[in-house]
Amino acid sequence: MEIKSYIENNKKKFLDELFELIRIPSISAIKDYDKELRKAATFLKNQFDDLGLENCEICETEGYPIVYAEKIKDENLPTVLVYGHYDVQPVDPIDLWDSKPFEPIIKKTKIHPEGAIFARGSCDDKGQMFMHLKAIEVLKNTTGIPCNIKFMIEGEEEVGSDNLEEFVRNNKEKLDCDIILVSDTGMIDKNTPSITTGLRGLSYLEVELTGPNRDLHSGLYGGSVANPINSLAKMISSLHDENNKVTIPGFYDKVINYSDEQRKEDDLIPFSINEFKNSIDIDEVHGEESYSTQERRSIRPCLDVNGIWGGYTDEGSKTVIPSKAFAKISMRLVSNQNSKEISQLFIDHMKNITPAGMKIKINEHHGGEPYITSTNSHAYLAASQAYESVFNKKPFAVKDGGSIPIIAQFEKILGVKTILMGFGLDSDAIHSPNEHFGVSNFYNGIETISNFYNFYSNKI
Ligand code: BES
Ligand code: MN
Ligand code: MN
Repeated sequence: MEIKSYIENNKKKFLDELFELIRIPSISAIKDYDKELRKAATFLKNQFDDLGLENCEICETEGYPIVYAEKIKDENLPTVLVYGHYDVQPVDPIDLWDSKPFEPIIKKTKIHPEGAIFARGSCDDKGQMFMHLKAIEVLKNTTGIPCNIKFMIEGEEEVGSDNLEEFVRNNKEKLDCDIILVSDTGMIDKNTPSITTGLRGLSYLEVELTGPNRDLHSGLYGGSVANPINSLAKMISSLHDENNKVTIPGFYDKVINYSDEQRKEDDLIPFSINEFKNSIDIDEVHGEESYSTQERRSIRPCLDVNGIWGGYTDEGSKTVIPSKAFAKISMRLVSNQNSKEISQLFIDHMKNITPAGMKIKINEHHGGEPYITSTNSHAYLAASQAYESVFNKKPFAVKDGGSIPIIAQFEKILGVKTILMGFGLDSDAIHSPNEHFGVSNFYNGIETISNFYNFYSNKI
């Protein structure tokens, strides 16, 4: 049977199975969901068994398990390792969801007139990861599986993949492969495919600024004691200058500067500034001077406050000068910045600018290194042909702004490059209320991935 017809005949079954996986609320950030993460891992193992893969196992770690499976056809054939994650982000703020986050439903949208699956994880990453399992089913029932395949699906991506790195280090032989394949990124729009050739890295820190040893009456003490919230706000606002450049000394020292030629080429990637503004309801963009919006969110590093709190925030008013102020601050990094180095620069600088009379404490959260890859490898060209065979357009090579920290670690530990074949859209609202994933993206993804294996193995 042809690949296209097999997918056509099994559309409903594929969706039903994905829905079953999505219904498991596998939120890795919240401890109460421990059982659900294990349920999702077991669901995947059963799927792998049903697909006839070998050595299917749930590998325990200090955190949530990693599901492994493989099909070794012949030692002489190339080996593809598929990576993805079965954990999802928390659903908050729950009130802003139009339907229940773990009860997937299909609704039509302007961008997805044929329907999109609304649920947490529908795009990031259950929907995208599941396409890879279904692609194996498609190949088995059509052209045959043309190379060796290994799967490694983890449950801690959304909380920093803390235990995956050690697993990879301890299982280098088991994970030996020629290329890693991942669908956990996006494409330009529903009909314009792209392959992700860059991911940003991440440094994430939490700052605690302490003034007086207790909250004070803001009448008795106001005006005579520095207020840690006022001070922290001032410190944070000084982290950007008038050109929106980050002021931390050394921050840009190692940043790759792209040639004018490369920048011109990247500028040909379709992007509408008006659609961008409309889609998030802002009337002006913002960012580092002399870079385009696309550059600001891909090849340039940035610094953002993710959360800030302290003092009295409940109902009504309470007149206090708080003892403490807090902020969570992240920096997205690009090649060749190093996460540890940038975190240290941040810590040193924040200590430097702490006003006299205040104490600062800074804790580091998980980070990750940036990643870039070329467009002339055999695997990239196979992926490009695969997209073209389904979308009738050559995909653009795009550097994405998000982070998947383990991808740089794969390169460092296993010495293997990754092809990022994403099928999500920016408008899919990953990590937000009403996350969704187009059903056509899902089916086209399955077809593209199936074709990838045949192009990669020189079968077509
Ligand atoms: N799949 C995303 C990353 C992503 C999305 C990259 C779209 C490019 C395009 C991943 O699950 C994610 O959310 N990563 C986190 C980092 C992690 C350490 C929590 C991120 O980018 O914030
Ligand atoms: Mn993801
Ligand atoms: Mn995510």
